[in-house]
Amino acid sequence: MKAVLSDICLHKGGGLQRQLYQALVERILSGRIPGGAQLPASRQWAADLGVSRNSVSAVYEQLRSEGFLASRQGSGFYVREDLHHLPKTLTPPSLARSLNAPPAKLAQAFKSAHGPHANLPFTPGLPDLDAFPIKVWNRLLHQQESRICVRGYDEPAGYLPLRRALQAYLRESRGVRCHEDQILITAGAQQGLSLIADVLLAPSDTVLIENPGYRGARGALGRLGRTLVPVPLTAQQALDIEALEHLPPARVLYCTPTHQYPMGGILEIGQRLALLDWARRTETWIIEDDYDSEFHFVGKPVAALQGLFDETPVLYVGSFSKTLMPGLRLGYLVVPDGLIDNFRQMKRFTSGESPLLTQAVTAEFMQGGHFISHLRKMRHHYHGKWQRFHHLLETHFAGRLQPVAESAGMHLVVTGEIDDLAVVQGLSELGIGSTPLSAHYVGKALQHGLVLGFANADDEAMARCVVALGKVLGAKSVDRGET
Ligand SMILES: Cc1ncc(COP(=O)(O)O)c(C=O)c1O
Repeated sequence: MKAVLSDICLHKGGGLQRQLYQALVERILSGRIPGGAQLPASRQWAADLGVSRNSVSAVYEQLRSEGFLASRQGSGFYVREDLHHLPKTLTPPSLARSLNAPPAKLAQAFKSAHGPHANLPFTPGLPDLDAFPIKVWNRLLHQQESRICVRGYDEPAGYLPLRRALQAYLRESRGVRCHEDQILITAGAQQGLSLIADVLLAPSDTVLIENPGYRGARGALGRLGRTLVPVPLTAQQALDIEALEHLPPARVLYCTPTHQYPMGGILEIGQRLALLDWARRTETWIIEDDYDSEFHFVGKPVAALQGLFDETPVLYVGSFSKTLMPGLRLGYLVVPDGLIDNFRQMKRFTSGESPLLTQAVTAEFMQGGHFISHLRKMRHHYHGKWQRFHHLLETHFAGRLQPVAESAGMHLVVTGEIDDLAVVQGLSELGIGSTPLSAHYVGKALQHGLVLGFANADDEAMARCVVALGKVLGAKSVDRGET
C-alpha cells in the first residue's frame, strides 16, 4: 500500500526540511498514514515538492532512526506496523480519585487574596517596595553576575556566604544558636514549612496550630489529610500555653511567638519557658515562625525560642519577604543538628538548590551592612505609617471597627460585626487589598474582621482606603446576620 501524501505542501521561506518532517510525523501519529504504508521514492517526491532529493532522504533517515520508519532493501521506506496500536485520542486518567488538594475552605480563602490583585495597597505581608534601596541592590547584582562562581551549581542547603551572614545576623538580632550547617536557604518561609512537613509528618499525624493563624502554615502542614487541631489565643492575643495541656498529643506545634499572626500578641519569656517545658514533656516539635520580628516598634523583640537553651526542639523559620521583598522568594530554616542530613536530602529531592545569584546578592547586601541599615530605616518608616493609619481608623470607624491593639509591624487587624468576605471583595473592587479575618480560623470563625497591610500604603492610599471602607461598610449587604 502506498502512502497518500498529495495534501502535503510546503511553504517557501525557510525550514522546508523541518516542515516535511513535521508533516510526516503528524500524519503517522494520527494514523492518516497507516502502518505498513510505503513512502514515495525520494527522487520523484523531491521533484514534486520542489525540494532537493537530499532533504527528503535526510528526513526519511531521521524518521527511521527515531523508529517511525523501517527500510526494505530495494523498495524504500515503510511506516512501521507496530506503531499503530495506539488509539486515535489519548484521554488522561480519570480524575475521579481524589487529588492532593488543600482543604476547600482554605483554597477559597486564598482565592480572594491572590492572583492579579495580590499587590494592591493594603495587601497584608507586602513591604513598601518603593522604599527598597534598589540602586545598591542593582550595583551588587551587576557585580555578582560577573562572577563565574555564581553561575554554576551549588549545594541544596544554600550558598555558604549567605548562611554565614544569616548565622551572625540571627545570633545578634534574635539570639538564635546555630552553626552555619544548621541553616537551609528556602524559597520563602513557605518552602521551609513544606520541608518540615515532608521531613517530620506522616499523613496520619496531628498538628497543633494557632487559631486564628497563618493560612500558609495551615496549607503546608495540613496537606495529605493531616489533622489540624486549633490552639486558642489568650486575651493578650498570644498562644494559650495552658490550653495545650488539654489538647490531643501531636507531632508538631506551629506558632508565631514573637508576633502572633495575624492578631499580634507576644509570648513573654515566662510563657516561652513554659512552652519549651511542655514540648519537652510531650515530645512535640515546635515550629517557630519568626516572620516579622524585625518590625517591633518599642524596644527589642523577645529572644527567639530556638536559642533560649543550647538545644531546643525548635525548627526556626524566617523569611526575606518582609525585610527585603517577596519577589526574591528567599527564606531560611534553622534545624536541630540531628536533622541536618534529613532536611538537606529532602530539599535536594524536592526543589534542589535555591537560585544562586539571588543568594549571592543577598549575602553581599548583608555583609556590606545594607541589610541592617535598611531594617533600621524601615522600622521607623512603618512605625510612622502605623500611627497614621491607626489614627485614621479610630477617627472614621469608631464603634464599627475595633483595631486590635497588639497588631502592628506591617499590618493592622480590625474586628467588627461585618461579613468580612463581602467587605474584602468590595474593597478589592475599589483597588484596596486586605484579607478576611474569618479565613484565618480552622473550622468555625470566632470573629470577623479585616487584616490590612499598611506597610505598602502611602498617605494617599490611606485616604483612599478610608473612603473605600466607608463606601463598602455603608452597603447593608456587608453586615453580619448572626452576632
Ligand atoms: C506568618 C507568616 N509567616 C511567613 C510569611 C512569609 O512567607 P514567605 O516567606 O513564603 O513569603 C508570612 C508572609 O505573609 C507570614 O505572614
